[in-house]
Amino acid sequence: MSRIGRAFESDIPALVALNNAFAPAGLTLPRSEDFAYAHLADYRVIRDADGGVIACVALDEYSPTVVEIISLAVRRDEQGLGLGKKLIAAAEALARRRSYAHIFAVSFSDELFLACDFSRAPLSAYPEKISRYEKIDRSELQVGEKHCFTKALTPAR
Ligand SMILES: CC(C)(COP(=O)(O)OP(=O)(O)OC[C@H]1O[C@@H](n2cnc3c(N)ncnc32)[C@H](O)[C@@H]1OP(=O)(O)O)[C@@H](O)C(=O)NCCC(=O)NCCS
Repeated sequence: MSRIGRAFESDIPALVALNNAFAPAGLTLPRSEDFAYAHLADYRVIRDADGGVIACVALDEYSPTVVEIISLAVRRDEQGLGLGKKLIAAAEALARRRSYAHIFAVSFSDELFLACDFSRAPLSAYPEKISRYEKIDRSELQVGEKHCFTKALTPAR
């Protein structure tokens, strides 16, 4: 059984390596250790029996009501086992607990997000995303096939 938990400072190199393994293909945006350190409380990870990180996800706040799912990555040999779905559910639960009203993601994985009850939305619904990534890296916006997925969140009880 894979358990989802928090990330610790000692996980930072693994978080960055896992995320950045998929950056050359444009599936994730490259992230630095400084970024992971600053967002450590926003990560959720799945570990192997030895405690090593095999999958991760993070939240990135856009406004007090809107948050993005970022750095969703499952080690290649662990893909297709349901870990991606679990991480999305964990990210959602964290976002609810923090009282965000909307969560969104920009991804190639249409089936995955639709299976998690997200809906397709135009990227223009999130102008902050466009302006933020114009400053960092336009590659994500230039990939024609990436789609935006969104979900309204009901508050945690
Ligand atoms: C995308 C990713 C996170 C999915 O994780 P995973 O653990 O392999 O996904 P799951 O096993 O939870 O799959 C859930 C469902 O989504 C589908 N799915 C998963 N990845 C998919 C993909 N890339 N394209 C289409 N469907 C996909 C699966 O068929 C599965 O459906 P099922 O439950 O009906 O069989 C993982 O493949 C990954 O790390 N990819 C590289 C990085 C990446 O693309 N990150 C996404 C950035 S938003």
